[in-house]
Amino acid sequence: MQLEITVNGKHLERKVDGDQRLIDFLREELGFTGVKEGCGVGECGACTVLIDGESVLSCLTRVAQVDGKEVLTVEGLAEGEDLHPVQQAFVETGGVQCGFCTPGFIMVAVELLERNPDPSREEIREWIEGNICRCTGYVKIVDAIELAAERMRTEGEKVGT
Ligand code: FES
Ligand code: FES
Repeated sequence: MQLEITVNGKHLERKVDGDQRLIDFLREELGFTGVKEGCGVGECGACTVLIDGESVLSCLTRVAQVDGKEVLTVEGLAEGEDLHPVQQAFVETGGVQCGFCTPGFIMVAVELLERNPDPSREEIREWIEGNICRCTGYVKIVDAIELAAERMRTEGEKVGT
Protein backbone atom coordinates (compact mmCIF):
# COMPACT_ATOMS: atom_id res chain seq x y z
CA MET A 1 0.00 0.00 0.00
CA GLN A 2 0.99 3.64 -0.32
CA LEU A 3 1.39 5.05 3.20
CA GLU A 4 1.25 8.69 4.13
CA ILE A 5 2.09 9.57 7.72
CA THR A 6 3.88 12.07 9.89
CA VAL A 7 6.43 10.61 12.30
CA ASN A 8 7.99 12.89 14.89
CA GLY A 9 6.99 15.92 12.85
CA LYS A 10 8.31 14.61 9.55
CA HIS A 11 5.90 13.89 6.71
CA LEU A 12 6.55 10.61 4.90
CA GLU A 13 5.08 8.95 1.87
CA ARG A 14 6.21 5.47 0.90
CA LYS A 15 5.18 2.08 -0.34
CA VAL A 16 4.86 -0.35 2.57
CA ASP A 17 3.43 -3.69 3.59
CA GLY A 18 0.27 -2.59 5.41
CA ASP A 19 0.27 -5.80 7.47
CA GLN A 20 3.67 -5.08 8.96
CA ARG A 21 3.62 -4.33 12.69
CA LEU A 22 4.03 -0.65 13.47
CA ILE A 23 6.86 -1.41 15.91
CA ASP A 24 8.88 -3.10 13.17
CA PHE A 25 8.25 -0.29 10.72
CA LEU A 26 9.34 2.34 13.26
CA ARG A 27 12.42 0.48 14.45
CA GLU A 28 13.66 -1.27 11.35
CA GLU A 29 12.60 0.96 8.50
CA LEU A 30 12.74 4.36 10.16
CA GLY A 31 15.41 3.68 12.81
CA PHE A 32 13.37 4.82 15.83
CA THR A 33 14.84 2.23 18.16
CA GLY A 34 13.60 4.11 21.22
CA VAL A 35 10.42 2.11 20.66
CA LYS A 36 11.10 -1.06 22.64
CA GLU A 37 9.70 -4.53 22.25
CA GLY A 38 9.18 -6.23 25.61
CA CYS A 39 6.48 -8.87 25.34
CA GLY A 40 5.28 -8.41 21.76
CA VAL A 41 1.75 -9.37 22.81
CA GLY A 42 0.26 -6.23 24.32
CA GLU A 43 1.10 -6.80 27.98
CA CYS A 44 4.07 -4.64 28.93
CA GLY A 45 3.61 -1.20 27.35
CA ALA A 46 7.29 -0.86 26.34
CA CYS A 47 6.30 -0.34 22.70
CA THR A 48 3.88 2.53 23.38
CA VAL A 49 3.78 5.41 20.92
CA LEU A 50 1.28 8.24 20.53
CA ILE A 51 -0.96 8.26 17.48
CA ASP A 52 -2.80 11.55 17.03
CA GLY A 53 -2.03 12.14 20.72
CA GLU A 54 -3.36 8.82 22.04
CA SER A 55 -1.19 6.04 23.40
CA VAL A 56 -1.17 2.90 21.30
CA LEU A 57 0.74 -0.36 21.58
CA SER A 58 2.84 -0.49 18.44
CA CYS A 59 3.34 -4.27 18.74
CA LEU A 60 -0.41 -4.76 18.23
CA THR A 61 -0.84 -2.13 15.53
CA ARG A 62 -0.48 -2.68 11.80
CA VAL A 63 1.03 -0.04 9.59
CA ALA A 64 -2.19 0.23 7.56
CA GLN A 65 -3.96 1.46 10.72
CA VAL A 66 -1.80 4.58 10.95
CA ASP A 67 -2.27 5.78 7.38
CA GLY A 68 -2.92 9.53 7.41
CA LYS A 69 -2.05 9.87 11.11
CA GLU A 70 0.60 11.50 13.25
CA VAL A 71 2.93 9.21 15.15
CA LEU A 72 5.08 10.39 18.03
CA THR A 73 7.85 8.27 19.52
CA VAL A 74 10.17 9.11 22.40
CA GLU A 75 12.69 10.42 19.85
CA GLY A 76 10.25 13.17 18.88
CA LEU A 77 9.89 14.71 22.34
CA ALA A 78 13.13 16.61 22.91
CA GLU A 79 13.59 19.99 21.30
CA GLY A 80 17.18 20.07 20.13
CA GLU A 81 19.35 19.64 23.20
CA ASP A 82 16.45 20.24 25.57
CA LEU A 83 14.77 17.14 26.92
CA HIS A 84 11.00 17.18 27.31
CA PRO A 85 10.12 17.96 30.98
CA VAL A 86 8.89 14.37 31.42
CA GLN A 87 12.20 12.97 30.13
CA GLN A 88 14.17 15.35 32.33
CA ALA A 89 12.17 14.40 35.41
CA PHE A 90 12.68 10.67 34.80
CA VAL A 91 16.44 11.22 34.71
CA GLU A 92 16.45 13.35 37.86
CA THR A 93 14.27 11.16 40.06
CA GLY A 94 15.91 7.87 39.13
CA GLY A 95 12.79 6.76 37.28
CA VAL A 96 15.16 5.31 34.69
CA GLN A 97 17.14 2.25 35.75
CA CYS A 98 17.77 -0.32 33.01
CA GLY A 99 15.70 2.02 30.85
CA PHE A 100 13.96 -0.62 28.79
CA CYS A 101 10.48 0.32 29.94
CA THR A 102 11.20 4.05 30.04
CA PRO A 103 10.10 5.16 26.54
CA GLY A 104 6.71 3.53 27.07
CA PHE A 105 6.23 5.17 30.46
CA ILE A 106 7.30 8.53 29.10
CA MET A 107 4.80 8.36 26.25
CA VAL A 108 1.86 7.49 28.51
CA ALA A 109 2.96 10.20 30.95
CA VAL A 110 3.02 12.79 28.16
CA GLU A 111 -0.48 11.73 27.18
CA LEU A 112 -1.69 11.92 30.80
CA LEU A 113 -0.32 15.42 31.36
CA GLU A 114 -1.93 16.64 28.14
CA ARG A 115 -5.29 15.50 29.50
CA ASN A 116 -4.77 16.22 33.16
CA PRO A 117 -2.02 18.69 34.05
CA ASP A 118 -2.44 18.14 37.80
CA PRO A 119 -2.96 14.43 38.46
CA SER A 120 -2.88 12.98 41.97
CA ARG A 121 -0.40 10.19 42.72
CA GLU A 122 -3.31 7.78 42.64
CA GLU A 123 -4.37 9.00 39.21
CA ILE A 124 -0.81 8.64 37.96
CA ARG A 125 -0.66 5.07 39.29
CA GLU A 126 -3.91 4.16 37.61
CA TRP A 127 -2.84 5.73 34.33
CA ILE A 128 0.41 3.76 34.14
CA GLU A 129 -1.18 0.45 35.09
CA GLY A 130 -0.70 -0.97 31.58
CA ASN A 131 3.07 -0.48 31.71
CA ILE A 132 5.44 -2.88 33.39
CA CYS A 133 8.77 -2.00 35.01
CA ARG A 134 10.94 -4.70 36.53
CA CYS A 135 13.47 -2.38 38.14
CA THR A 136 12.08 0.66 39.89
CA GLY A 137 9.17 -0.51 42.00
CA TYR A 138 7.20 2.33 40.32
CA VAL A 139 7.65 4.88 43.12
CA LYS A 140 10.35 6.80 41.27
CA ILE A 141 8.31 6.69 38.08
CA VAL A 142 5.34 8.24 39.87
CA ASP A 143 7.75 10.79 41.43
CA ALA A 144 9.01 11.65 37.93
CA ILE A 145 5.56 12.20 36.49
CA GLU A 146 4.55 14.29 39.49
CA LEU A 147 7.68 16.43 39.17
CA ALA A 148 7.16 16.90 35.42
CA ALA A 149 3.54 17.89 35.98
CA GLU A 150 4.56 20.49 38.55
CA ARG A 151 7.21 21.97 36.27
CA MET A 152 4.95 22.02 33.24
CA ARG A 153 2.25 23.81 35.21
CA THR A 154 4.76 26.38 36.47
CA GLU A 155 6.08 26.91 32.94
CA GLY A 156 2.50 27.27 31.67
CA GLU A 157 1.79 29.90 34.32
CA LYS A 158 4.92 31.82 33.32
CA VAL A 159 3.92 31.71 29.65
CA GLY A 160 0.41 32.84 30.56
CA THR A 161 1.64 35.91 32.51
S1 FES B 1 5.93 -5.04 23.40
FE1 FES B 1 3.99 -4.17 23.02
S2 FES B 1 2.94 -4.38 24.89
FE2 FES B 1 4.82 -5.41 25.23
S1 FES C 1 13.78 0.63 34.41
FE1 FES C 1 14.21 -1.46 33.96
S2 FES C 1 12.29 -2.27 33.39
FE2 FES C 1 11.85 -0.30 34.06
